[in-house]
Amino acid sequence: MLVRALAFVLALACTTLPALAQEYTIRLSHGDNETNPTHITALKFKELVDKYSDGKIAVQIFPANQLGSEEEVIRAVRNNTIQAQIPAMANVHPVAPSVGVLLLPYLFSNSEEAHAGLDALLPALNEHVTKEAGIRFVGILEKGFRVLTNSKRAVETIDDLKGLKIRVPPNEISIKTFRSWGVEPVPMGWAEVFTALQQGVIDGQENPYTTAVTSKFYEIQKYITEVHYQIWTGPLLISEAFYQKLSPELQDAVDRAGLEAVQVGREANAEQTAEAMAFLKEHGMTLSGAPQDEEKWREAARGIWGDFYANVGGEEWANQAIKIVEDAVASK
Ligand code: MLT
Repeated sequence: MLVRALAFVLALACTTLPALAQEYTIRLSHGDNETNPTHITALKFKELVDKYSDGKIAVQIFPANQLGSEEEVIRAVRNNTIQAQIPAMANVHPVAPSVGVLLLPYLFSNSEEAHAGLDALLPALNEHVTKEAGIRFVGILEKGFRVLTNSKRAVETIDDLKGLKIRVPPNEISIKTFRSWGVEPVPMGWAEVFTALQQGVIDGQENPYTTAVTSKFYEIQKYITEVHYQIWTGPLLISEAFYQKLSPELQDAVDRAGLEAVQVGREANAEQTAEAMAFLKEHGMTLSGAPQDEEKWREAARGIWGDFYANVGGEEWANQAIKIVEDAVASK
């Protein structure tokens, strides 16, 4: 009887102790589905935060815009109503101009360059975004080039873009880049894109291959062009107000977990991208590769970098950030 009672008390202690030890909860929101590398990053972050904080911080994940659109959630993170988010960098830009340097068209040539540049830039970026928006990046996910999909025709040259209604994230750099190619894009929040494509309000959009699969764009889009103008980057960001409540040890746990989690997400993305291309072909999409006149696209978009400096936190910061990126790429 006594042994049974002791076993009961022990079992109770085992189930309640972690709950007693838990001091903080991070609610983490993102806009993708549960097979997307964004979600894989979120799961790894949860696991590692639990491990490195010895169970003192719990992470709850809310995928697929459950807590609101990326624009709504970032406002909530700034107020610490929601503590963490993995949005597209393009959707962070409106509240934190300095991240715009990562959206400069044709900044990175491939994912390896992007990883070196993003990791090197993290401390300097945090000096800016903590002040601009009350948010902090603990790592930056990368999901390959944003490729153009549409339902009307194969886009093989810059002239083929004419007349297409292409949705872009609502930030100045994406908008002006498309204008440099001679079209007026349609800025729109991410949460509305699938329905707008389905209803023909827009003809196309641009996001990575993996997103075309996980968001089921192959059901409503026909053509893909590999425009290499921007690599999808998205910070694993947390509320600065929340971060400042943590002890230095717990801050370190969150920082380590973030850096390692985005690394896992990047690897998942590399694996999934090749699979996504095959899947999209099997599901009837036409993959045209890069535009035949890619140099024209590149020249037009890079030709207006100077116009963007005011949108990315000023020329001094832009030059400093570009140099950090270039040095990191060169020393790889
Ligand atoms: C967008 O196009 O708004 C984003 O890239 C979507 C996302 O967060 O994956």
